[in-house]
Formats: sequence, C-alpha cells, structure tokens
Amino acid sequence: MTKPPIYVARKIPEVGLELLRQQTQLRLHEGNMPPTREELLRGIAGCVGILSLLSDRIDSEVFDAAGSDLKVVSNFAVGTNNIDIAEAERRGIAVGNTPDVLTDATADIAVSLLLAVARRMKQGARDVEGGQWKTWEPRGWIGLDLAEKTLGIVGMGRIGEAVARRLWGGWQLKIVYTARQPKLELDSRWGARHVELPELLATSDFVSLHVPLTPATHHLIDARALSLMKPTSVLINTARGEVVEQDALVEALRGGGLFGAGLDVCTPEPLPLDSPLLQLDNCLILPHIGSATVDARNAMAERAANNLLAGIRGEPLPFPVRS
Ligand code: DGY
Repeated sequence: MTKPPIYVARKIPEVGLELLRQQTQLRLHEGNMPPTREELLRGIAGCVGILSLLSDRIDSEVFDAAGSDLKVVSNFAVGTNNIDIAEAERRGIAVGNTPDVLTDATADIAVSLLLAVARRMKQGARDVEGGQWKTWEPRGWIGLDLAEKTLGIVGMGRIGEAVARRLWGGWQLKIVYTARQPKLELDSRWGARHVELPELLATSDFVSLHVPLTPATHHLIDARALSLMKPTSVLINTARGEVVEQDALVEALRGGGLFGAGLDVCTPEPLPLDSPLLQLDNCLILPHIGSATVDARNAMAERAANNLLAGIRGEPLPFPVRS
C-alpha cells in the first residue's frame, strides 16, 4: 500500500522524523532556513498532512495549494499564531500543537533573562570582552535584588505558573497575575493575587509575559502600558514579539522608563543588526530559544509527529487546537 504524502517544513529531531517515516511518504524540506513561500506552496501540493514551524504562515493560500486531501496541520510549537485556525476549522482540517513539554525549558529561559537583566550581565560581559574591566568596582555594574520584590505574570497559564513557581520558591517574590479567571489554588499556595493589567504593571518589579499572540494581545504592552511600569522594573518576554510595541519599548529603555528588558522573542525574528534594541546595554535578546533543550525538542517532535499521524488516520489529535 502506498504511504500517504506529508510535508515537513524543516528537519525536526530524529525521533519525530522516524515516527513519520514509518507510516508516511515524507517530503522533507532539507534546508536550515524555512522554506520560501514558493517552496512551501509547491511542496505541499497533494499532501494529506503538513508539519509546520512557527515561521511558516499557514493560511487559505496554503490550504488551497495543498488541495482537498489535506487533513491535518501539526505545528512544531505550542503557539499557533502562524496558523489561520478558523479557516482550517471551516475546511475540516485538524490543527495540533505541542503543549506542556516545553513549559519548564521556557520558564528557565524567562528566569535566566530576568536574573541576567537584573544583574546587568550583558553590560558586564561586554565590558570584560571589550577591555573596560579595569578593577573591582565598588560602584560599578550595580543591579537589582530579587528577594521579596513583586513579580507580575501577564497570562498565568502553564509557563507563567512555572515561572512563578521558580521565583516564589527561590526568592520568595510576591506574585500578582492576570488570567481570564482567578486561580484560587495559586492564591492560597503562594499568596498570589489576581489583578487587572494596569495594577500589575504599576506594582510589579519584574513583569513576565506569557500570553499567546492573538488580536487581543497584539501590542498589549504599548507606550501607555510601559508608562505605568516602575522605572526600576524589568520586562521579560518569552511569548511572542508582537505582544510588545517594540518602538515604545526602545523609547522606554532609552529614556529611563524601565531598568531593563530581557527578550527571547522580538519583531521581526531575526532582529536586523541595525535594530536600536541591540545598541542598548539594558536590553538582552536571545534568539527564541525558550524550548531549545534536548528533552523539550525531542518531546515536541514526538507530539508533533503523533498529532500528524492521528490526523491523517482521521482520528482525534492527541493535542488539538481550536479557535
Ligand atoms: C512555541 O512553541 O510556541 C515556542 O515559542 C517555541 O519555542
């Protein structure tokens, strides 16, 4: 029996590719860069499944190019803002993602950024490498303490909770958060408080963003929101770049409106080398590595493969996404 054709937009960890090879005819985009739009549209023609990455825009043009046999889009990510899910639903195409398995890895990056920005590590490392480290400095490279400060989690979902757990357990930070509903178990476990966003921004020393990118969260942190934050505070973004209005962030960081920012995500990705953010000592940027650990990426590959295999069999996806 011929195996059903599927398109895989990039080399994911071998554990996922092996699962797919056993049951499908794999059309694998071999390059290290994402497929161009033309390569994607050509590659998916006649496929029953697509394994996409967050850099691949999956919309009606893609669905049309794939044709009427397309049954499933499996995203190698927990975020699905690159996919037109409503359109997929309208066409009866299942969509899946890879939740849970990258929660700890991403929370670790958020906490790492927070510590690095609070303790001015970018500036310190630059000064060491650039020969500006002349002596032990009683008044140099002075950063922020964490203990007993207030942490604001914007979007208390799985990753937000993992960040709060680390910082509450490690440094006894007080926790305020936004979420659709108060999470009473967290309130009693950590003394956390469910608040509205303006109060969170005005009272937090560290603000960490964990909302999915949707029309409602696009530029959620704009100039007005930034103006509510304390000048001594730090903003961390491991969610999606577009949640922050980046020009406003540059102004806030330049003008003393914030102590610093740590970004694992930005707009666009990769950030152009002439971006003003790269000139700022108080802004540390990583190349979207929240989930980049061996365990997380292998588990993501397995989940993405299993979603895709279930979808082409016409079975419910283990990790479905709905609009
Ligand atoms: C995701 O899965 O959405 C992350 O951003 C990838 O690390």
